[in-house]
Formats: sequence, C-alpha cells, structure tokens
Amino acid sequence: MTILAHGKSGTLKVAPIVKDDRQVEAFIEINERQLADLIMITSGAYSPLETFMDEENYLSVIKGGRLVDSTLWPIPITFDVQEAPTAGTILGLKSGGRHLANLEVLQVYEPLITEELNSTFGTEDPAHPGVAATLARGRFLVSGPLTLIDEPHDDIHGHYLTPVESRAIFQMSKWKSVVAFQTRNPIHRAHEYLHKVALELIDGLFIHPLVGATKDDDVPAEVRMEAYRVLIDNYYPKDRVLLATYPAAMRYAGPKEAILHAISRQNYGCTHFIVGRDHAGVGNYYGTYAAQEVFDELSNDDLKIQIIRFEHSFFCKKCEGVVSKRSCPHASDHHLVLSGTKVRQMLREGTALPTQFTRSEVARVLEEQYR
Ligand code: ADX
Repeated sequence: MTILAHGKSGTLKVAPIVKDDRQVEAFIEINERQLADLIMITSGAYSPLETFMDEENYLSVIKGGRLVDSTLWPIPITFDVQEAPTAGTILGLKSGGRHLANLEVLQVYEPLITEELNSTFGTEDPAHPGVAATLARGRFLVSGPLTLIDEPHDDIHGHYLTPVESRAIFQMSKWKSVVAFQTRNPIHRAHEYLHKVALELIDGLFIHPLVGATKDDDVPAEVRMEAYRVLIDNYYPKDRVLLATYPAAMRYAGPKEAILHAISRQNYGCTHFIVGRDHAGVGNYYGTYAAQEVFDELSNDDLKIQIIRFEHSFFCKKCEGVVSKRSCPHASDHHLVLSGTKVRQMLREGTALPTQFTRSEVARVLEEQYR
C-alpha cells in the first residue's frame, strides 16, 4: 500500500515530546476545541500543519481553500485568545491543569469573521453550530512555533490511535486498501450497509468516530463507542475492521469539512474515504450531495485518498434490506427513513427503535443511556 501523508513533502509531521526550559510568560487553560486541534496537529493527523495557522495561511485558506504553498486545505485551524499577547511571549497551553505545549507568539492578528464564516460554513447564521463556535472565539488569533511537552490525548474512550499507529496496524494486517468511515452519530443499519458494501471491494475498514466536541444534542461519545463495539462484536469480520477514535471537534461545515475529514484520513494511512448523504451537515444548510460534489472541483494531485460516494440509503420493506434509489424500484411509502432528530425523540420518549433501522444490540445501548 503506498499512501503518502497530505502536503507537498508527503511525510507525516509528528511533534516529538520535548523538554522546554524556556520561561513561560503566561499559562492558558485551553478549551475542548483548542485541545482537539492541538492533538490533531501534533499527532500528524493535520499534516502538513505543524502549528496553528499564521495570517498568510489563514487568508489563503479562507480566500482560496489552499495553504500559501498551494496545498489543498479547506478550513482555518487557528488559536484564539481574548487579549493580544506581545510578540516573543511564550504561552503555556494547559488542559485539566496539565502543561501540554508551549506556543511562541510570532504573530497576533484579527480574523476576517464574515469572510471566514462564508468560506467555511457558507452562512453567517448564528443558529449554525459551527458559526456559533466561531463567533464565541477570542478576539485575536496567535501563531508561532509549537513545542509539545506532554501527551495531549488522555484516551478516555480507550481506542485512541495516532496516524503512525494506525498506519502500522494497516501494514501488519496486510491490508493493501483501507476505507475510512467518519461518523458522529450512533451507528445504524444504513451506516452498516455502507461499511459492508465497501468491504466487498476494500481490504480493511477503519471505523473512525469523531469524539471531540459536538453540539449538545448529539449522542455522547462513550455511548456511541459502546454501540460500535457491540455492532462489531456481533456483525463484523473482526480481522477486517479497526475501530479507533478520531479526536477532532465537529465543525458541521458540510462540504469543507468533508475535505478536511478526507485529508486527515489520508494522514492516518487510508486509501479510501466514504462520503454519503449530507456528510458533516446540520439542518438544511447544505445540499444532500454537496459534500460529494466538492471533490469534483479538485485536481488529481490534490488528494491521494479516493472518495467512495454513497446515495441516501434506507431500509425498504419490499426489498427487505437496506438499499438506495440506485438499487430499489419501490415507492417511498415502502421505505423507512428516520432522521437523527427523530431517533433522539423516540429514545427520549422510550419508543422502541425498529430493528430495520437499528440492530437490537445497538438499540439496547442507546435505550439504556436515555432511560
Ligand atoms: S457525519 O456528520 O459524521 O457525516 P453521520 O455519522 O450521520 O454524520 O454520517 C457518517 C457518514 O455516513 C457520512 O459520510 C454520511 O454521509 C453517511 N451517511 C449517514 N447516513 C446515511 C444514509 N442514510 N445514507 C447514506 N449515507 C449516510
């Protein structure tokens, strides 16, 4: 399997943990989103980024979707602070009281909020959860060299793998092709269908649920992880599946986030990436297939990872299986389609989830949580 890391050099940019004796002028307790970005950058998952973006790269990304050196990059990855530090200051980044990294301030700049929101989310609507998170940031953005002092990931869910580790496992497993699956929702039969269709063609499946910050009404990561575990235990060929947590925060940026998800999964060593219906979407902000169409605009050199596209899939009572319009001729009254919102409502009300929608083992895990 030859899959290179994203970026011109094709190498993973992993930050080593080092001892840093320099004087820290100010300590900052970083929030969940900053921690997620710190983990993504230092582990190599956001290669070729080696630190939070400077103003030149920030502007280049929001104006043209590329880094200054023209590498494809869809979304700014920045470090925000409320008060501007002076240039040359060493900021100590702490989480849960642990000193994780030092950020040497080379540059302090102010974001172009309107341009950034429209570029990333295609909207300025504060009801959009990604817009709301961007508006809640500190006023200034800071960039400069990042030094890693301690492991930023605490692996509370027990399935954390760095890109170096996932690549090693793929190689040990002798998988020549690996398809990654991004998800932020409890696993259901349509997800399982995508996995199994992909497994007919690809050697290994990397189930990679996002466990960083999500919006408040999304199902908590530990419950989702338990649901994936019981599903894999009961319905998947164990030697062809790897479950690991994806530590990024969710941005709900639809098409732009689909590109970010694909780039990082390439860094994890995957050859293929699944993009289905309304990938990384929220509400009605993006077209059903906008996150697939965005890949049509890229050139062949932009990404090594290949996108596997899926149409909206659902259970058809006549076909007695999960299908999509590409394979099922029956009218929609034979189809069982449940939105995430509807599922959460059923769980809250104690209504049993139909087995055509969710495997009973998974339903039990979810019902337990909502009881
Ligand atoms: S996402 O925000 O991570 O995209 P979700 O966990 O719901 O949300 O989806 C994970 C992946 O499965 C995405 O690629 C999404 O497009 C795809 N997907 C989810 N449900 C369906 C479905 N019913 N049909 C086709 N693709 C789907």
